[in-house]
Amino acid sequence: MKNSFYITTPIYYPSNKMTLGNCYTTILCDSIARFNRMMGKDVFYLTGTDEHGQKIEKIAREKNVSEMDYLNEIVSDTRALWDKLDISYDKFIRTTDNYHVETVQKIFKKLFEKGDIYKSTYKGLYCTPCESFWTEEQLVDGKCPDCGRPVEPMEEEAYFFRLSKYQDKIEKLLTETDFLRPQSRVNEMINNFIKPGLKDLCVSRTSVKWGIPVDFDPKHTVYVWIDALPNYISALGYLQKDDKLFKKFWPCDVHVVGKEIVRFHSIIWPAILMALELPLPKLIYGHGWLLFDGGKLSKSKANSGSVIDPRILSDRYGIDAIRLFLIKEVVFGQDGPYTQELFLNSYNTNLSNEYGNLVSRTIGMIGKYLGGVLNKPTQLTDTDKDFMQEIMNKRSSVFKMMDEINPTGAINLIFEMFSRANKFIDENAPWVLAKNGETDRINTILNILSEAIIITNTLLLPFLTVKPKLVYASWNLDIPNNFEKYNEFGFIKNNTEVVKGENLYQRLDINKEIEELNKIAN
Ligand code: MSP
Repeated sequence: MKNSFYITTPIYYPSNKMTLGNCYTTILCDSIARFNRMMGKDVFYLTGTDEHGQKIEKIAREKNVSEMDYLNEIVSDTRALWDKLDISYDKFIRTTDNYHVETVQKIFKKLFEKGDIYKSTYKGLYCTPCESFWTEEQLVDGKCPDCGRPVEPMEEEAYFFRLSKYQDKIEKLLTETDFLRPQSRVNEMINNFIKPGLKDLCVSRTSVKWGIPVDFDPKHTVYVWIDALPNYISALGYLQKDDKLFKKFWPCDVHVVGKEIVRFHSIIWPAILMALELPLPKLIYGHGWLLFDGGKLSKSKANSGSVIDPRILSDRYGIDAIRLFLIKEVVFGQDGPYTQELFLNSYNTNLSNEYGNLVSRTIGMIGKYLGGVLNKPTQLTDTDKDFMQEIMNKRSSVFKMMDEINPTGAINLIFEMFSRANKFIDENAPWVLAKNGETDRINTILNILSEAIIITNTLLLPFLTVKPKLVYASWNLDIPNNFEKYNEFGFIKNNTEVVKGENLYQRLDINKEIEELNKIAN
């Protein structure tokens, strides 16, 4: 079995600081990457920024700085945010990196020489002040969507990629294989793009200066997708001297992308790869959107001083809270709303009640009834065995879910495991047993309860990166870095001293917090 795993986020537009929406893709990918690492796989997790294009040129001009100065600032802010959120990426690619620029030029030339890129004329509606081409559909009231001024029909020389040639192959790929998930996105692609017929794609511009020059015809710059999509292979060294990573990690296991860019990843990208005669990625996963007031949050709106700044949220409530909300409450593959109430409620219900309380309650009882010392169980009852079996069955299901790239399903199961453990306490009521002096039985219950907590906690490590790590110290256990540890009952030794750790998650007063958050926003 292949022991490597390659996962990517899209490369983000640095048109402004990253939003909680961009954190969504990055955090989801991070949890999948971490999970696979703990399974013992050799993981490569790629993220980065998509830095060319007219918009960047325009922003830099408005700010009166060079494009590179502007980009460097956003990129360092992005990297700082990913560090703050514990994103364990292996490489951060910038499309302005030399190796990427050179690889794109080589790819462009290769496709041109092969006849899959050809020169023709691009016809569009042009806004002279904005120096931008628009399609009929992009216009707002027949005018330029950026400045509102009239547009006029115009033509320019441009290179085209022969996408139409790959129509049948792409249709087969989408309908006969498991290339794109979830299924709803496949239907969308077939109805909106495959059925109407794929058209050749304009892949160069003479009007955009901030781009990768076509080296054999330098008045052209490479336009958008032939620049952006190949980041997934240029980052690994494709067509470069050192292509060890490419040999090891390509084809990609999964490109995780938001639903609005599924078309580029499931139609244009495989066509480019087919033209390059390269193997295709195994899976494109099109996730939904985190919705704010019913819509996708734009970078400009998010940066206008709103309280959903991920930096503020993580300072106030911790990284675990953000990661939990995005992974658990927004069903992977579907859209889901963000509100302060939903966020804070998720914290209280899951982190504080279900999980944090379970840990502190268990340690508390070990202190109170067993003098803080835990031993191996003496005799297991049928209900103990059933409980242990249930935990182990759910543990297996978590692996199955992650194999299907379903982090929401996996984390829900993990919280069901905690909830089952809470129920086990109530079913066995150690406080009643204590009245009858049944210390032996209490030890058995608290032993398997402790082990159930640790087994479950280990599954949680890829998802929540901060507090779950602290739990092991209470039982004098090592923090595991793979799932081979704590993978079945029986690891707690005789005479284990169990000590109280710090309170994992303080319960929040939701009304007070909402008031505070609103104050920060104003
Ligand atoms: N640069 C292109 C991608 C090129 S990939 C070869 C791009 N960049 S983006 O910055 O606009 O978006 C990047 C990712 O952020 C997308 O996957 C997008 O779906 C995601 N998100 C931005 N806002 C989002 C939400 N509100 N919710 C979930 N994800 C969203 O597209």
